Amino acid sequence: MIVTSPARTAPANAARPVLEYQTGFGNTHSTEAVPGALPIGQNSPQRPPLGLYAEVLSGTAFTAPRAENLSSWLYKLRPSAMHAPFRRLANGLVRSGPFKEVEAPPNRLRWDPLPIGEAPADFIDGLATFAGNGEPAMQAGVAVHIYRANRSMDERCFVDADGELMFVPQLGELVLFTELGKLTVAPGEIAVVPRGAKFRVELLEKQARGYLCENYGAPFRLPELGPIGAQGLAQPRDFLAPVAAFEDKEGPCQVVNKFMGGLWAADWQHSPLDVVAWHGRYAPYKYDLARFMAISTVSLDHTDPSIFTVLTSPSGQPGVANCDFVIFPPRWLVAEHTFRPPWFHRNVMSELMGLVQGVYDAKAEGFLPGGVSLHNCMSAHGPDLATFERASAAALKPQKVEDTLAFMWESRYVFRPTQFAMSVPQLQKDYDRVWDGFKKHYR
Ligand SMILES: [Fe+2]
Repeated sequence: MIVTSPARTAPANAARPVLEYQTGFGNTHSTEAVPGALPIGQNSPQRPPLGLYAEVLSGTAFTAPRAENLSSWLYKLRPSAMHAPFRRLANGLVRSGPFKEVEAPPNRLRWDPLPIGEAPADFIDGLATFAGNGEPAMQAGVAVHIYRANRSMDERCFVDADGELMFVPQLGELVLFTELGKLTVAPGEIAVVPRGAKFRVELLEKQARGYLCENYGAPFRLPELGPIGAQGLAQPRDFLAPVAAFEDKEGPCQVVNKFMGGLWAADWQHSPLDVVAWHGRYAPYKYDLARFMAISTVSLDHTDPSIFTVLTSPSGQPGVANCDFVIFPPRWLVAEHTFRPPWFHRNVMSELMGLVQGVYDAKAEGFLPGGVSLHNCMSAHGPDLATFERASAAALKPQKVEDTLAFMWESRYVFRPTQFAMSVPQLQKDYDRVWDGFKKHYR
């Protein structure tokens, strides 16, 4: 099905282009920007229609099981192979696994949002890596970056061979012009660009800032639903893939390729965004987080946060994620005779959180939109004192948690912060003090 989709949560934006999307998570899509561009009945005709070049983009091994197999056939103005050698670029603040710059402390860490500078900076210029685990060479782990931009990418594209990229915008709506088509993504939505797909980030507002998860491991997929049944959480039809869109543009274009942690650049003499038609399952997609069907207790106690999993990247061990993407959206709290905010806990899984908007219900203050918190393996955390005291005395009427959108990337692997993250002034020096002052009530 083809839809045009103004985001339900995104405020009106006159600059937002009206785009069409194909619906469904992991569907086998077929799309052509020019009628007749897609071969019928075979993938690689001797002479593809309209003089296009046929090319495969595969995101899983050819022999991956059918349910997990991801690839697409692209029909292009020129083959991707036609380019000059890549040369090394300075990495700026981009880092990759193995993360060994600084020793990972067992401390709870929290950061205020990074400022967006005045100097012109596009998506690549403004990337800063905060933390990560695993490494691209092993195709395991994730890196978490913050992007900040005040200008669109111009005559330059980015491609990440190290992982797929999940965008969680916090400020400013973007257009992602990918090889497979265009998507808009605004705060309240997410978008995922697959490993190896070239794209350009364009700003629809003066500034943009957001969170970026670079997933070295298995591509994100919908979680199993178990006893929940067939309905609930994120619904497959709410995921939107672009329709084919291309540029027939001569002239220089720098392609920046992230490969084994390094940034490399090569010059194309034409736009690489030249896919006139494609079909397959390997494609970017977007999702409006307001469409998430949140499920939780209707009796007592606090459900495990895994109930809010939107997407998961499995590791080799069943039920243990390379990375889960979990959200804490607006929802009703109705638990009886229960401490309603998240409990105190120490987990083997490591938790990196961000806040898109509003206030997170376990922290009364100090966790700001655009900020980051990190609670690694077995670090003790939970509600701060103000939240604990308020929730312990609250009248337990049904309560709507509103004006909030926090999220978490949770991983089986410990997140190691970068040197940049440990040295920026936005690192809160007194975070531990939010757990100071708990009185002994024992009697
Ligand atoms: Fe936690």
